[in-house]
Amino acid sequence: MNMSNRIKLAAILGVVLLAGCGERPPITTVQLGFRGTGMEQNYNPRLQEKVAAANQVGAVQPAADPSGPLAKDIYQNVEVLSDLSVGEFVRVMTSMTEWVAPAEQKDCTYCHNIEDMADGSKYTYKVARRMLQMTRDINSNWKSHVQETGVTCHTCHRGQPVPSYVWFQDPGSGRENAFVGTRAGQNSAVTGLGITTIGHSSLPYDPYTPFLLGSLPIRVEGETALPTGNRSSIQQAEWTYSLMVHMSNSLGVNCTYCHNTRAWASWEESRPQRATAWYGIRMARQVNNDYMVPLTDVFPAKRLGPTGDVAKVNCQTCHQGVYKPYYGASMAKDYPELQRARPLPEAAVEALPADPADPAAGASAPAEAPAAVAAPVAEAPVRGPAPEGQARSG
Ligand code: HEC
Ligand code: HEC
Ligand code: HEC
Ligand code: HEC
Repeated sequence: MNMSNRIKLAAILGVVLLAGCGERPPITTVQLGFRGTGMEQNYNPRLQEKVAAANQVGAVQPAADPSGPLAKDIYQNVEVLSDLSVGEFVRVMTSMTEWVAPAEQKDCTYCHNIEDMADGSKYTYKVARRMLQMTRDINSNWKSHVQETGVTCHTCHRGQPVPSYVWFQDPGSGRENAFVGTRAGQNSAVTGLGITTIGHSSLPYDPYTPFLLGSLPIRVEGETALPTGNRSSIQQAEWTYSLMVHMSNSLGVNCTYCHNTRAWASWEESRPQRATAWYGIRMARQVNNDYMVPLTDVFPAKRLGPTGDVAKVNCQTCHQGVYKPYYGASMAKDYPELQRARPLPEAAVEALPADPADPAAGASAPAEAPAAVAAPVAEAPVRGPAPEGQARSG
């Protein structure tokens, strides 16, 4: 091989190697924090296109007349949607069929016995009834997270019965070897959960069980330079990092979307989005404990995980790789039927975000959290694949 051929070969190899990298140029950078803080996000338009394609809101059914007889007075077995007119009720049924029923059975029979529509014996019917309550609960009691954007069944389901992103407890390869001691779920990046959750790192691969089902403390940093009683271990910090990588992946952002990395713990130096995320953690926890887990016995065995647990929700279930589901486009506003809920007693509303099992959270966090500075430079990247605003190419 002569010299010029070798150079050519080297050049080709170089191109092949570069092509193997996920983030090949051009990259668009969006600055989110003060200059010099490194608070910026890198977006690759090529990868963004795929995410954008998966984040389109579905078709909206024509609005229904809220007046007229109530569904509960016409039908026999209406428990949740008792405040809807017949028109609204049927509109919800039609939409649910589109949003949740599988492609091969996109009709009412997925949940109903067509001989007797009031028969509630199919498991899908029982689950759907609970999901209706859950969706209304999220939209009316978790505005601290979902704001007016809200959610519909489509936010998680996107046209299929099992949402694309759910989690099960994973017996994994990390915990069971008593001989060498527990690996705390670490160094198992090859398991299914590991890849999507912790980005091939060696962090503990299941941050969901402790933080999105249980309520173990997430904050680990000491508040003083010298040790004054913070007993958190490095191992605990690794679990926190594992959750943080999951949160970042789910939103398609990096750590600086929420934190100024010179001071992870500081709410003052964080973006307001971090406070939203704080509520998101509590919301996901409540959804899992109040809605998913109690449904375990309703689901057939084929839907349960390897340890017999029910499919559960994490940040990715709704966000699907984007900082706001569907880049902030709201489907919920077109579905007032899913917004209404019998208001909870005032005391219950106040008690919701507080989490007595988590000493770091509870009363102190909401007070601390909103103190975060307003986003100083650009707002969140605008809707669509190519963020504009303060964008510059590099
Ligand atoms: C994803 C599950 C699901 C699908 C699909 C579905 N339904 Fe329903 N349906 C329910 C649930 C749950 C209720 C009870 C609602 C409540 O308690 O408020 C219900 C109740 C009803 C009722 C009231 C029956 C009675 O007498 O109590 C009617 C009528 C109905 N659905 C019609 C339809 C039609 C028509 C379709 C197809 C276009 C459909 N449903 C698709 C879950 C479903
Ligand atoms: C926050 C996310 C989320 C929202 C919102 C949501 N669901 Fe679900 N849903 C889930 C998860 C997680 C499961 C469990 C997946 C499984 O079946 O294993 C599930 C399962 C179901 C199932 C059982 C599917 C099957 O074949 O096993 C039905 C039916 C269902 N949901 C209906 C609905 C309806 C109707 C709505 C809207 C009123 C809704 N869901 C809203 C997360 C969600
Ligand atoms: C979507 C917003 C968001 C993103 C992105 C994010 N975090 Fe966090 N982070 C939070 C929230 C909220 C808390 C506090 C959680 C709580 O108290 O329940 C937190 C807490 C922490 C803590 C603990 C601070 C303390 O008080 O001890 C560390 C460390 C941390 N994050 C690191 C990271 C790293 C590293 C990344 C990137 C891999 C990251 N975070 C990405 C929102 C975020
Ligand atoms: C039930 C669905 C759902 C789940 C689960 C969920 N989110 Fe969200 N999230 C939303 C919606 C809807 C919005 C848009 C609210 C708005 O318009 O400001 C949002 C907004 C956010 C924002 C604000 C983004 C911005 O640019 O202002 C952050 C940060 C966030 N979520 C983090 C999280 C984290 C972290 C988790 C998991 C612990 C999570 N979310 C779980 C539905 C969800």
